Amino acid sequence: TFVPVILAGGSGERFWPLSRRNRPKQFLALDETGRSLLQATSDRLCRVSGQPESVMVVTGGDYRTQVLEHLPEMPIENLLVEPVARDTAPAVLYAALRLAQEQPDAVMGVFPADHRVTDAGAFDRVMGRAIEVADTTGRLVTIGITPTYPATGYGYIQAGEELLGGELPAYAVSRFTEKPDAETAQAFLADGRYTWNSGMFIWRVGSILAAFEQHQPDMFARLREAVGQGRSLAGVRAVFPTIEKISIDYAILEKSDQVAVIPAEFGWDDLGDWNALERLLKTEDANVAVGRHVGLDTGGAILYTTQGDDLIATIGLEDVVVVRTAEVTLVVRKDRTQDIKKVVQQLKAHP
Ligand code: GDD
Ligand code: MG
Repeated sequence: TFVPVILAGGSGERFWPLSRRNRPKQFLALDETGRSLLQATSDRLCRVSGQPESVMVVTGGDYRTQVLEHLPEMPIENLLVEPVARDTAPAVLYAALRLAQEQPDAVMGVFPADHRVTDAGAFDRVMGRAIEVADTTGRLVTIGITPTYPATGYGYIQAGEELLGGELPAYAVSRFTEKPDAETAQAFLADGRYTWNSGMFIWRVGSILAAFEQHQPDMFARLREAVGQGRSLAGVRAVFPTIEKISIDYAILEKSDQVAVIPAEFGWDDLGDWNALERLLKTEDANVAVGRHVGLDTGGAILYTTQGDDLIATIGLEDVVVVRTAEVTLVVRKDRTQDIKKVVQQLKAHP
């Protein structure tokens, strides 16, 4: 059996100020379908698994109600709530430990809640293949996306020897590098053997637990004990705050020699920051505007307002992003949108 697990606990800071503490990116409906990114992810995975009632979601307490509102069909016992956010490694381990109690032989898929996939048919084929590779090789299977620019916000996967040939070949991974600096990213892009980590992982429950036991023995032991205490959540509540805050990429994928990659294309877009709006709302216009905009000598700008008919006017600007909400106006150069996170951090420290 294949059990998809959606990670929906991120705070989505790069879409600030549209995403606020109470409404991060996964709950936004950014395109014309009206479905939020979380709903679209769940739709996609229900289709792949063929068993809609099997999809699990891991999220933080702040988002519990919103997840249930967005996914009314999901059985409530499929929702795992982390007492506090500790990034993706503890979230994945928590889900794997829970799964191990009831379906130890399952293949588990881990999926970000906030990505877009435009080629559904290709996605289904790649998932079918990934499940097969994970099951037969016992490897930690990643999906590699052809890189198009030296992004510093992604993991980079270097493919080594071929493990399984065929239409969608799988390779052993010789090196996984999470979020390299600009210079390294440039070198990886030029090298040609690297793909971007899509953030989707497919592995046997037993394989990922073994990897945690080996590479994060402390986290593994503590969380296993807490989850082993059964239905009472007191143990999990007590242990979570003591666990290191670390992503699955740093905690496991950079360390393990059991990683595999399937290079694939399915119209993947992680909608990582405001620049994604340009790709979402393809337009022939000089600027991408959601809401009313008048631009004089303005080009390549992204303008977004949640404020009804209010007008944004710009003069003599190139390549900027302007976002206006009820409480915040953000103006940022397009090449600095990754730094929005830093503003959010600063506001958290000095509100
Ligand atoms: N439950 C839970 N708890 N979910 C979380 C937490 C947490 O503490 N933190 C993040 N998430 C969720 C996010 O909501 C998102 O759906 C997913 O986990 C990935 O987290 P991000 O914070 O978006 O990761 P990233 O974009 O910086 O990097 C990852 O994705 C890239 C591709 O988009 C890495 O896997 C990179 O290697 C990868 O290239
Ligand atoms: Mg992300």
